[in-house]
Amino acid sequence: MINNRKPKIWYGGDYNPEQWDQSVWDEDLRMFALAGIDVATLNVFAWANNQPDEETYDFRWLDEMMDKLHAAGIGVCLATSTAAHPAWMARKYPDVLQVDAHGRQRKFGSRHNSCPNSPSFRKYSVRMAEKLAERYKDHPALLVWHINNEYGGAGNCYCDNCEQAFREWAKARYGTLDEVNRAWTTSFWGHTLYDWEEIVLPSSLSEEWVGHNNRTETNFQGISLDYMRFHSDSLLECYKLEHAAVKQHTPNIPVTTNLMGAFKKLDYHTWAKHLDVVSWDNYPRFDTPHSYTAMMHDLMRGLKEGQPFMLMEQTPSQQNWQPYNSLKRPGVMRLWSYQAVARGADTIMFFQLRQSVGACEKYHGGVIGHVGHEHTRVFRECAQLGAELGQLGETLLDARVKAKVAILFDWENWWAVELSSGPTIDLRYVDEVHKFYDALHRSGIAVDVVSVEADLSTYALVVAPVMYMMKPSVAAKLEQYVEAGGALVTTFFSGIVDENDRVQLGGYPRELRKLLGIWVEEIDALLPSQRNRMVVQDSALGLKPEYACGLLCDLIHAEGAEVKAVYGDDFYRGMPALTVNRFGAGEAWYLTTSPEAAFLKDWLLELCASRGIAPLLPGAPEGVETILRSKDGQAYLFVLNHQAANVSVDLGERSGVDLLTGRLLQGGNVELAGNDLWIVQLT
Ligand code: GLA
Ligand code: ZN
Repeated sequence: MINNRKPKIWYGGDYNPEQWDQSVWDEDLRMFALAGIDVATLNVFAWANNQPDEETYDFRWLDEMMDKLHAAGIGVCLATSTAAHPAWMARKYPDVLQVDAHGRQRKFGSRHNSCPNSPSFRKYSVRMAEKLAERYKDHPALLVWHINNEYGGAGNCYCDNCEQAFREWAKARYGTLDEVNRAWTTSFWGHTLYDWEEIVLPSSLSEEWVGHNNRTETNFQGISLDYMRFHSDSLLECYKLEHAAVKQHTPNIPVTTNLMGAFKKLDYHTWAKHLDVVSWDNYPRFDTPHSYTAMMHDLMRGLKEGQPFMLMEQTPSQQNWQPYNSLKRPGVMRLWSYQAVARGADTIMFFQLRQSVGACEKYHGGVIGHVGHEHTRVFRECAQLGAELGQLGETLLDARVKAKVAILFDWENWWAVELSSGPTIDLRYVDEVHKFYDALHRSGIAVDVVSVEADLSTYALVVAPVMYMMKPSVAAKLEQYVEAGGALVTTFFSGIVDENDRVQLGGYPRELRKLLGIWVEEIDALLPSQRNRMVVQDSALGLKPEYACGLLCDLIHAEGAEVKAVYGDDFYRGMPALTVNRFGAGEAWYLTTSPEAAFLKDWLLELCASRGIAPLLPGAPEGVETILRSKDGQAYLFVLNHQAANVSVDLGERSGVDLLTGRLLQGGNVELAGNDLWIVQLT
C-alpha cells in the first residue's frame, strides 16, 4: 500500500489554492466532498509564495490548507515547490538560469527553469524541502512527498557550471582522458583531448544541430550520449538531494516525483531505484491508440518490478497544450481511469481540481470548471467515479499483473538509436516497440515492459525490438535465458554498438551472433514509399503466404538458424527475413525488417500459443482491452470497451461479479456498452 493511512484507490489531484482568494476554499471543500475526492496534491508551484525573499519563509497558507483538508478527511500529496524558482532568485543568483543550446542565458520565466548544476538552485531547493519536511513531518494529512515536478520538462542546460560538472562526470565514469578519447572515438576528425578543460558540452556551438524530423543530430554520438546520461544524472542528483532532505524528517513517508511515460530525456530505469513509488502523468490525445496508453502504463509499472504505481495526473476532460484539445467523450475519462487501474495504478488523480483563471493553463480542464459549481457534465462524471472508487475500497489495492511476455525497453538504447547518423531518419524506437506491444495487446496478451536488468526467468517469451546498443552482460544474460528454455525475439538493427556507440567489430550482431545463428552483412534503408515483401517459407507457422515490410531490411546469412521467411523483392530477394535458432532448450528469433502490423499480430499470436500463452478472452472484439490483476489468490478480470458502440463479449467459461455494478456475469456472450467496462471478480 502506498500509505496505509488511506487504504483505498486515492482520488483527487493537483490543487492550487494559492492561486485563489481564500473565499473559495470552503466552496472547494464542499465540492470535493460531492466528488468523493480524498487526496489533494498541494504546493507544486508555490515556491514564490512560500519564500518571498532570501530570508523569509511563510507557510501560513499551507498550514491552513493542510489543516482544512485534514479536517475534511482529505490526505495530502505534498510537493516541494521547487519546479519553478522565484523571480528574486533569478535576479540575485543568475546561476539558477539555464543556458540554451545556442549559448543564450535565459531570463526569469517559464517553469522547470533551473539549471540542475546551479549551486544556488541546489542550496535553496534542498533548504525548501527541509523546511517543509520539518514543518509537516507530524501532520496527519501527509500521505506522500511529490518532489519537484516533471523533471526535465523544459530545455536542457549548457551553462559553464554544467560544462564543469560534465568534466567531473566524465572523470568519474572514465578515470583517464585516454579512456575518454577511446570512448568518444576522438581519433575521428582530430578531436583528441589533451586536457580535461578541453571537454565542452555538445550543443549547437559544438557538435549538435537539429536535423530532419526535428531530430538532434551530432557529429559525435559518444559525446552526445554521455551528455544525455549526464543530464539525466544531473536532474536525478537534484531529486536525490531533496529526497534525502525530506527522508531525514519523515523516514516513513513515501517519496515520488511525477514521471511522464516514455519521456526521452530521463533514464527512468535509473531514476526508479530512488523512488519509493512510481507516479506518472497520463495525457493521451483524442486519437492516441489505447494500446499506446496501455504500453505507457506497463512501462511505468515495470520500473519497479510490477509494484503498483500512482496515476498522478490526467485531465478530467480537456487539455490546453495539444494542437487540438478535444473533449473526453462521456464515459471516456472513467474508462481511461480504469484502464490505469487495470494496468497497475492504485491512485486516480487529476490535473487539476479547480480550473485556473489566467495564464496558459486556463483552458485546461478542472474538476471544478470556470462556472464554479457542480452542475456540469465533467463534474458529474468525476463524482460518479469518486463514488465508485469509494465503493471499491481496498479490494484492488496492491493487486499485481502477472505477464508471461516481457518487452525489453532501454532508454540509452533509445538515445543511441535516434542519435545515429544513418541508416534512416524514420527509425523511431518507441514506435517500433509499440508495434510489438500493439500486436500482443490486440490479442489480449498481457505484457510487462521491463529493463534489460530485469529478471527474465519468469517469462515464456521476451521481445527485444531494435536492441541496437549491447550493454555489458546483456548478451550473456539473453543466452542464459534462451538456453534454459526461453524464447527470444529480436529484430533488425540489434547488437550493433557498445555503450559508447562504437561498433562491435567482427560482423553484426556481434555478441548475439551465436545465439541467433545469423550474420548481418548489410542494412538497406527503404524510402517511406518503398516496401519489400516477406514470403513465408514454413506453412506450419500458420501465417499468410506473405506480408509487406519496410523501413530497414537487414541482409543476413543464416549460420545455423532455420529460415522461416525470405524477402520477396529486390536484389536480396530470397535472402532470409525471419529466422529461428534453437539454442539450448530454447529458441531465438530474428526478424530482419519492420513488417506490417498484420504480420506481428499473426506471428506473435502463434508464437505465444506455441509457448503456452493464450489470450485472456480469445476472439474479444476489436477495441476491447482485457487484463487480469490478482491478489491473495483472487483474480480480477478487467474488460474495457474502447469503442463508442456496444459490443458482445464472449466470456467463455469465465464468470463472476462485476465489482462496479454488482451484476453476476455468468460466462458466454454478454453485451458491454460503449466506453464501459467490467471488473469481474472471477469465481
Ligand atoms: C503537466 C504538469 C502540470 C500541468 C499539466 C497540464 O503534467 O505537471 O503542472 O501543467 O501538465 O497538462
Ligand atoms: Zn547549467
